[in-house]
Amino acid sequence: MISFLLNGDVVRIADVDPTVTLLDWLREERRLTGTKEGCNEGDCGACTVTVTTLDEAGLVHQALNACILFLPQLAGKAVRTVEGIASPTGALHPVQQAMVDNHGSQCGFCTPGFVMSMYTAHRTGRQDHDDVLAGNLCRCTGYAPIIRAAEAAAQEPAPEWELDEAKALHALADEGDMSARECYLPASSDSLAAIYAAHPDATLVGGATEVGLWVNKMFKTVTPMIFLHRVKDLQTIERVEGGLRIGAGVTLNRLRGAVADRHPDFAELLRRFGSVQVRNAATIGGNIAEGSPIGDSTPAMIALGARITLRHGEVRREIALEDLFTGYKTQDRARGEFVESVFLPDQPDTLRCYKLSKRFDQDISAVCGCFAVTVEGGLVTAARLAFGGMAAMPMRAARAEAVLIGRPLDEAAIAEAQDALTEDFTPLDDMRASAAYRMQAARNMLERYRLEHAGDVDTRLVGRGAA
Ligand SMILES: Cc1cc2nc3c(=O)[nH]c(=O)nc-3n(C[C@H](O)[C@H](O)[C@H](O)COP(=O)(O)OP(=O)(O)OC[C@H]3O[C@@H](n4cnc5c(N)ncnc54)[C@H](O)[C@@H]3O)c2cc1C
Ligand code: FES
Ligand code: FES
Repeated sequence: MISFLLNGDVVRIADVDPTVTLLDWLREERRLTGTKEGCNEGDCGACTVTVTTLDEAGLVHQALNACILFLPQLAGKAVRTVEGIASPTGALHPVQQAMVDNHGSQCGFCTPGFVMSMYTAHRTGRQDHDDVLAGNLCRCTGYAPIIRAAEAAAQEPAPEWELDEAKALHALADEGDMSARECYLPASSDSLAAIYAAHPDATLVGGATEVGLWVNKMFKTVTPMIFLHRVKDLQTIERVEGGLRIGAGVTLNRLRGAVADRHPDFAELLRRFGSVQVRNAATIGGNIAEGSPIGDSTPAMIALGARITLRHGEVRREIALEDLFTGYKTQDRARGEFVESVFLPDQPDTLRCYKLSKRFDQDISAVCGCFAVTVEGGLVTAARLAFGGMAAMPMRAARAEAVLIGRPLDEAAIAEAQDALTEDFTPLDDMRASAAYRMQAARNMLERYRLEHAGDVDTRLVGRGAA
């Protein structure tokens, strides 16, 4: 039985098929067709809903894409759809009224998704509208009227009919165990470790921003599934001796907050990771374990010298993150072994991250270059240059790094390091970018790093929108 709140009412679903998405269930079982299906892969935001969770600090409201959200992920939470935000007598919510007043809708297909992103921001007080709405696509309006609507709505107070879900969520939490067929919902990492060791062929599900696509687009069989979202001890960010330990279940939005002071460029890179909806769901463990050659968090963390803890049953081992990847989507990870945490060592911040994609927001990288170089007494004493998109896996440029050691970070050294990149990498060649383009882009990133280091020019995009 899975229980959650839907627009304020308790819903209990017995014998849940764990591969059914919230979007399909809303539209097909509940006939709540306000939530739209656009892409069905997390890209367009037409299916945005607000999901509210009760944690120690109180209520947390998040915009999520219902098309890549499986029903078991909602256990014990509150879902609000576009049908559930006006008053019982039909008065529009301030964000709806602002969309009407500012002509924020034309064909209207995208409108419920925009309204729900704006509603979530209205409840949380966020006013960085460009970022909030970057995951919602519109073919008609040109966006300006929608942004004006978001700005106008932000000036309005919460309507008196807006419910506080805390009491109802407390009551739900007392309902005890949640379960669904063909899946496991462990509540601790010990239990997760035991279940996964016993069922190594099961699919682990973090935020489902990859697994959701396997179901919707590739029609893969993913059962049995082991959902990680209830494993609280995988969601901690701890200050430990020598660094920061981040649980594998930490979402990319939380990670962004945790690294903002230490490594602002990493935080800025994460702002361009998917959209708010994707970052609210996606976990750091999922990004690492996916092992994509164009994953964004891995080059940054490799440049920072990250280490990960892998766990199989009761046995843990720690390895350098870069040693996890052995080839195209192959890893040094045994069956039944999962990523438990990642450790970022303390260090003076020298990290710079460059993400090159066709679209600024919500786009996968063609090349991602992340560099941490220590210069002491005018000479390079340590260099970690990590790239995504340049090989079958995220990788360091070992030869280019070797060129820099013991040299000043000047034009001649960078030119040699650029040439060394051709020995380090055979870049991917696909529809996103040709191999030659990727190599040129990687070379340019090194030159850009040199210019920024020399203080000649600041070409970074830091500062657009809120941190
Ligand atoms: C619209 C959209 C935009 C995106 N944009 C970006 C982007 O800009 N940059 C980028 O890098 N990625 C992007 N992605 C890809 C995806 O969001 C990330 O890879 C994400 O971090 C996956 O995390 P998750 O928790 O959702 O993983 P899931 O989908 O839950 O799982 C992914 C894989 O990891 C495994 N897994 C999950 N947790 C663990 C664990 N703790 N231990 C071992 N295995 C585990 C799963 O079994 C599965 O194989 C995007 C995806 C979408 C849909
Ligand atoms: S339908 Fe496009 S993000 Fe869900
Ligand atoms: S109003 Fe037509 S897609 Fe946005």
